[in-house]
Amino acid sequence: MAETGRRRDLRLGVNIDHVATVRNARGTAYPDPVRAARLAEAAGADGVTAHLREDRRHISDDDIARLMAALRLPLNLEMAATEEMQAIALRHRPHAVCLVPERREERTTEGGLDVLREEARLADFIAPLAAAGCRVSLFVAADPAQIEAARRVGAAVVELHTGAYCDLHHEGRLAERDAELARLRAEAARAAALGLEVHAGHGLTYETVGPVAAIPELRELNIGHFLIGEAIFVGLGPAIEGMRRAMDAARGG
Ligand code: PXP
Repeated sequence: MAETGRRRDLRLGVNIDHVATVRNARGTAYPDPVRAARLAEAAGADGVTAHLREDRRHISDDDIARLMAALRLPLNLEMAATEEMQAIALRHRPHAVCLVPERREERTTEGGLDVLREEARLADFIAPLAAAGCRVSLFVAADPAQIEAARRVGAAVVELHTGAYCDLHHEGRLAERDAELARLRAEAARAAALGLEVHAGHGLTYETVGPVAAIPELRELNIGHFLIGEAIFVGLGPAIEGMRRAMDAARGG
């Protein structure tokens, strides 16, 4: 099936964190992120992403257990590089683990990991996860030194942070946006040449996804907040299908 081949060339991971944000605003059992994950599966997502934060502000431990039990799609567990999170990942053994920096006071993940500063610790942290069969990804800025360090610590994947590119676009700072896009392109090529699989994500919308999806080395985009917001107006399935179409169009499909 040519269609499937093209789709798998750039996978879409749907991040369902903010379904849990709405649920937790009231302390109810609904809306259920597992139901959203099943809908994402039906709408053609290639994976589901969930960030178990240290403060459990959206996804809970029980959500991770239920996602692992319910999903046929691969789960990408985003987490900080802490002992607690490592034990959880080793217990569940999700398909992928994406290590992200985490500060409690931030609204969202604001920057990439400082892999260079934590090189020895991250190498030790990644080894048991990789041995357990998880594909370990590091969420990094488009910075050559960080990408080279990601290779050295044994990551299989880097996920390039697209937040700065998206913010610059929405602020109308177009020359700076284009410079950031050029960095994303160059660093995707560098990472792929080093043998890393390259993903990207954060802040992507229908307006900003095209130029990122067109970067040939990218194999996966992880997108959440915009899709959950768009789902309020059109439903989650159509929102995901719209993103899939935008990605395919950018890829020349
Ligand atoms: N990728 C990573 C590593 C993230 O931390 C996040 C946010 O949790 C995303 C992608 C998705 O970002 P957004 O929700 O802004 O689409």
